Amino acid sequence: MSVLGQSFVQGFIRMCSDGWDLGWHERNGGNLSYRMKEEEVWAVEDELKTDKPWQPIGTTVPSLAGEFFLVTGSGKYMRNVQLDPEANISIIELDGKGENFRIRWGMRDGGRPTSELPSHLMNLEVKKIATNGACRVVYHAHCTNTIALTFVLPLDSKVFTRELWECATECPVVFPQGIGVVPWMVPGGRDIAVATSELMKEFDVAVWAHHGIFCAGPDFDTTFGLMHTVEKSAEILVKVLSMAPRKLQTIRPDEFRALAKDFKVSLPEKFLFEKPF
Ligand code: 13P
Ligand code: ZN
Repeated sequence: MSVLGQSFVQGFIRMCSDGWDLGWHERNGGNLSYRMKEEEVWAVEDELKTDKPWQPIGTTVPSLAGEFFLVTGSGKYMRNVQLDPEANISIIELDGKGENFRIRWGMRDGGRPTSELPSHLMNLEVKKIATNGACRVVYHAHCTNTIALTFVLPLDSKVFTRELWECATECPVVFPQGIGVVPWMVPGGRDIAVATSELMKEFDVAVWAHHGIFCAGPDFDTTFGLMHTVEKSAEILVKVLSMAPRKLQTIRPDEFRALAKDFKVSLPEKFLFEKPF
């Protein structure tokens, strides 16, 4: 079957369109990566080319050496992925040291993988190790409400986690480990990739102040659903903060503890501190 006929490629394309539909991908904003399974590489082997040069990743990911990834292109628009996948996304291969990559399929009219490739690969590496290989998807989106909150909330993982947990009862069940926050940093390089992947050892979500969100997960549905849940909760908080200077009532620490018991999740006590509404 062709590359485009593969279900992982179709799932990837659908996710790009869904993010565009929700308004998270102005211009070329946001990017997506998927760590391919061995059998998925075999299935498309006939279509993979070897004429493109090896290029430095910009960081080192030894635990991903020799693996293949489907990634969006730098400067490419999420809204165009569905219309012309071959021009906007690519399959890349990493070398035996995890230092260089080469394009094996896609980017038909030229170009290179997303400028956030160091962050995607370092996050995928940390998550591969932390989940025994289960994590395969890393997604970066420019979600409006979450970005807005980075201007008014302290850039502190405890505050962001607690505020977003309070705004939608499902949040502590969907992201029980909480969410990390990266202060503003220059995007596209190794430094922000190191800072984000450090947080990804603990969390599945990292907010980039005044920029966007990175989410990681085992498949497209879980990862997209995680991004959507975080952003929905942020939207509720933006509305609450716009309506009144303080909440009249909210979910309290003991209520989170009761929820954790019934839903069989463990919520770190560091997020269940006493505070006024
Ligand atoms: P790319 O077009 O290189 O993927 O960059 C978009 C972006 O969101 C950078 O953070
Ligand atoms: Zn971005």
